Amino acid sequence: MKILVIGSTGTIGRAVVNELNDRHELILAGNKSGDITVDMNDIQSIIKMYKNCHPLDAVIVTAGAIHFAPLTAMTSELYQIGLNSKLLGQVNIVLQGLKYLNEGGSFTLTSGSANRDPYKQGSSPAMVNGAIDGFVRGAAIELPKCLRINAVSPSILTESMKDFADYFRGFKPVPAEEVAIAYSKSVEGAQTGQIYSVGELFLK
Ligand SMILES: NC(=O)c1ccc[n+]([C@@H]2O[C@H](COP(=O)([O-])OP(=O)(O)OC[C@H]3O[C@@H](n4cnc5c(N)ncnc54)[C@H](OP(=O)(O)O)[C@@H]3O)[C@@H](O)[C@H]2O)c1
Repeated sequence: MKILVIGSTGTIGRAVVNELNDRHELILAGNKSGDITVDMNDIQSIIKMYKNCHPLDAVIVTAGAIHFAPLTAMTSELYQIGLNSKLLGQVNIVLQGLKYLNEGGSFTLTSGSANRDPYKQGSSPAMVNGAIDGFVRGAAIELPKCLRINAVSPSILTESMKDFADYFRGFKPVPAEEVAIAYSKSVEGAQTGQIYSVGELFLK
């Protein structure tokens, strides 16, 4: 398959590239580096990206900015960061990608566990991740061309604990390599409308 990986230089993106690289043709996209650069906050930049690399069999997004802060310090503007980048950025990558994906292709988005397993300073990720999961379920039943869509929803990654450990005491970090398997399941499997949760403990 010809697969576009947006966020390919990041912690999750690098592991996804390692998982899929031997079996597929990957096009690596990032904000500042990669085969193609794109700003997922800008629809014109997304359109230009697709024009430069279509047709595609799959699109994976492992990117999206979000603001972490105590609830009492959050503002409407700070919530807009996650809404515009991680939520609408990924939604726009799907909407603009519809005409550039081959029949039977797939989108794989990235959310996160905060909406199911909240942590301190995580009200924005909790809100945005819940919306991404909802979008995936809603879009899955209406996608044209037999396209599929899933989200990977990881808990905190082992590789990210060095920066965020104080917010995630009692959480079991999950290695990026393990998270990457969920992207393989989404792209190389047959399911749609699924949210693949990776790495949670003590949830009912
Ligand atoms: N790390 C975790 O523990 C964890 C857990 C759950 C969910 N997540 C979610 O997973 C996603 C990726 O996390 P990560 O830790 O892998 O991130 P990361 O290491 O910071 O990497 C971010 C990637 O996104 C790209 N990027 C940044 N701004 C962009 C933009 N405006 N348009 C397009 N690409 C852009 C970067 O490209 P350049 O390098 O070229 O700038 C980089 O490839 C985030 O949405 C995060 O919320 C992460």
